[in-house]
Amino acid sequence: TVLVVDYGAQYAQLIARRVREANVYSEIVPSSMPVAVMMAKNPKAIILSGGPSSVYADGAPTTDPALFSSGVPTFGICYGFQAMTQALGGEVAHTGGSEFGRTTLSVGGAGTLFAGMPETQQVWMSHGDAVTRAPDGFAVTASTAGTPVAAFEDTGRRLAGVQFHPEVLHTEHGQQLLQNFLYDIAGLTPDWTDANIISEQVELIRKQVGDAKVICGLSGGVDSAVAAALVQRAIGDQLSCVFVDHGLLRSGEAEQVEQDFVAATGVSLTIVDARGQFLDALAGVTDPELKRKIIGREFIRSFEQAERELVEAEKSGPGYRFLVQGTLYPDVVESGGGTGTANIKSHHNVGGLPDDLQFELIEPLRTLFKDEVRRVGLELGLPEEIVWRQPFPGPGLGIRIVGAVDADRLDVLRRADAIARAELSAAGLDRDIWQCPVVLLADVRSVGVQGDGRTYGHPIVLRPVSSEDAMTADWTRVPYEVLEKISTRITNEVREVNRVVLDVTSKPPGTIEWE
Ligand code: XMP
Repeated sequence: TVLVVDYGAQYAQLIARRVREANVYSEIVPSSMPVAVMMAKNPKAIILSGGPSSVYADGAPTTDPALFSSGVPTFGICYGFQAMTQALGGEVAHTGGSEFGRTTLSVGGAGTLFAGMPETQQVWMSHGDAVTRAPDGFAVTASTAGTPVAAFEDTGRRLAGVQFHPEVLHTEHGQQLLQNFLYDIAGLTPDWTDANIISEQVELIRKQVGDAKVICGLSGGVDSAVAAALVQRAIGDQLSCVFVDHGLLRSGEAEQVEQDFVAATGVSLTIVDARGQFLDALAGVTDPELKRKIIGREFIRSFEQAERELVEAEKSGPGYRFLVQGTLYPDVVESGGGTGTANIKSHHNVGGLPDDLQFELIEPLRTLFKDEVRRVGLELGLPEEIVWRQPFPGPGLGIRIVGAVDADRLDVLRRADAIARAELSAAGLDRDIWQCPVVLLADVRSVGVQGDGRTYGHPIVLRPVSSEDAMTADWTRVPYEVLEKISTRITNEVREVNRVVLDVTSKPPGTIEWE
């Protein structure tokens, strides 16, 4: 394990990811964690992240010098570089010459960090204070116009640091620099590969589960699919999956789970056809929050019912002791790495289940980032259509019909959505777009002319957005030709729709979904 010590910057997650891209496992820990606790994790290397504060600021996080005498190879970045300097007797000062953004770095002399790299390179800087004197024993290996000490290393003690941010893409050779530290200074082997992630998790799951029975609710999304496939790989028939078809899915999605997922994994799947039940419960409901509540409630009912039936059908054996959840590493980090993670997940996942279900949790993706989950999914043999699925809300099309939900309206929306998705895919835009909700304004009508006659139809809204994490988003500038094609096809092929409009609102103020 490489520990990334988080000094409160937004960069710690990025550093952890870059380390993993170097095929070395990494974990984020808070800078308040006592050194003894860090050492108990038996780290093979430590990376100190950047941080927003000056080492001289009141309340600035401090670094226990014991960290540097522990013998664990340590790399300081930006604030971590200065903290290391201070702890080891060098000098950090307000030079007044802050540097922000792209800066030219000159590499001087032999060294390990910059081995194999050009003498001049672009790096990303963001600092006010600067190291003015390296601690004794360190060789200064790079500088910029405003920062005479931009990098140093003491390969004997296996300590090194840089003032700039190697983890951001604007730093040309950042990944190589990190790898030089990890492989050549810390002596680590790049053995954190997808295949190893899988075999390690398979071991852990077997140990945790023994011969008990495990249940998993599939939502159709990436995370629950990969989690289930991983558990299936570990314990085979002890796993039962339940997929509740609430009738609010897009065209082809239920089939994808029923056929492609089962074909790829051989998992034992119970499909609950709850389409009628959901439609009845939603009849006449227009309030978005009420719709969400009803869908959540019916989902849980259906899942519990399916579980009871499974237990009954297998009369002889014990019931289900474990529940699989697709919790990811960012969820764990964002909730402080503690418990309560499951709550967060079930909260915004209709695929997630209520807290009072009496199961122990299996969370095989708890240490992984989304891109790693996708790679693991592919390695497990899941089809690309499942692995590369864009986010889709648990309440499904139920919150993409503005107005009451009924079978006819769902049918209209499903056909329009299928056209929009097909054209965006054909234009190669799937991975540029975070997701593109297609919304039916079921209670709005406008006048049109189609063929020879007047029409009085419904508008369809396209809502393509770009985002990193769905917390904020911008509307995607989809090329006009693609929009034109979608608009023409929808108005020609979906008779009930006579107008296609584009949502050009960022989030905030708009949310991604309309309801
Ligand atoms: P909003 O509309 O809040 O959406 O900007 C942010 C992201 O969350 C998805 N979303 C949901 N996902 N259950 C889910 O599993 C929900 O109830 C839900 N509501 C919104 C939405 O699709 C977007 O990716």
